[in-house]
Amino acid sequence: ENSRIALPIGSNLDRFIMKNQEAFPFASGELSQLIRDLAYAGKVVNREINRAGLADITGAYGAENVQGEAQQNLDVAANIRFTRALQKGGEVAAIISEENEDIIDLKTPNAKYIIAMDPLDGSSNIDVNVSVGTIFSIYRRVSPVGSPVTMEDVLQPGTAQVAAGYILYGSSTMFVYTTGKGVNGFTYEPSLGEYLLSHQDMKMPKDGTIYSVNEGGSKSFPQSVTDYIDKCKDRGYSARYIGSLVADFHRNLLKGGIYIYPSTAKAPNGKLRLMYECNCLAMIAEQAGGLATDGKQRIMEIQPTSLHQRVPFFVGSKNMVAEASEG
Ligand code: AHG
Ligand code: MN
Ligand code: MN
Ligand code: MN
Repeated sequence: ENSRIALPIGSNLDRFIMKNQEAFPFASGELSQLIRDLAYAGKVVNREINRAGLADITGAYGAENVQGEAQQNLDVAANIRFTRALQKGGEVAAIISEENEDIIDLKTPNAKYIIAMDPLDGSSNIDVNVSVGTIFSIYRRVSPVGSPVTMEDVLQPGTAQVAAGYILYGSSTMFVYTTGKGVNGFTYEPSLGEYLLSHQDMKMPKDGTIYSVNEGGSKSFPQSVTDYIDKCKDRGYSARYIGSLVADFHRNLLKGGIYIYPSTAKAPNGKLRLMYECNCLAMIAEQAGGLATDGKQRIMEIQPTSLHQRVPFFVGSKNMVAEASEG
């Protein structure tokens, strides 16, 4: 019956954030507010995604982003929703986004935080009613509060993240985040408009039997990746590839598995972006006992050099990523 799962008071996201505030690196309440702002924007985007097929907001927007991709209407809408929520919230000095070529300076020089975000991940899946997501990383600015935001503020390595998370708009919508003390997952209950704690202290299995890679590019994979995928096949592993990074990552987080986006002829540095896709999921993976590399090096230790930099990405169960990265 419906009430079988008892949800004690304190299990909704707002209360969880409040209760855990003292665990934050800088317990001033501003980071808590910022996470709530992101969660709120996620509700708005969730509503738009749910109605996308009815409300004429699917399809291409008619412009190309800095990535050279055709923007979808929902890429643009989600970018606006998150940017606006963060602007109104007042805790963020600047945003970098997949959909904006340059830094978005929110002209709130007294704010302490920087956001890197992929407002809508998997946007090619919207029109076919497949799961999509939002990915975010939170940093503290390094230049003095009150001064203009600098490139150094936004180009920090993943190890400097104070929090990271994603929203998965799937068969259920989930908000998953970490502040560096483990990973917790909340499932959105639409009739209450609340995210409820459903996945406490998530841990990724050390090993798994799922590999996720777009094998369409396999003719130009590095030899080491081809060798690893052959091993997966020899062992009878399952191939699963949704084509929305967040959804592929989330499944592997729960079930164990590896996600690889290697360098290919089409994407010589891989396709995924260090600042607002890889670092965030790397932090969550590590916090859950997993691992993330670019095939050689730990993702979070890469010193970024540009906003939209791409890197090969290997993420998931610790032993699988370690084995795939050796070659
Ligand atoms: P985005 O929609 O934010 O541009 O990200 C797309 C990414 C990611 O979600 C997905 O895993 C990957 O692109 C799929 O790429 P391929 O179609 O090349 O496999
Ligand atoms: Mn895109
Ligand atoms: Mn993406
Ligand atoms: Mn995107």
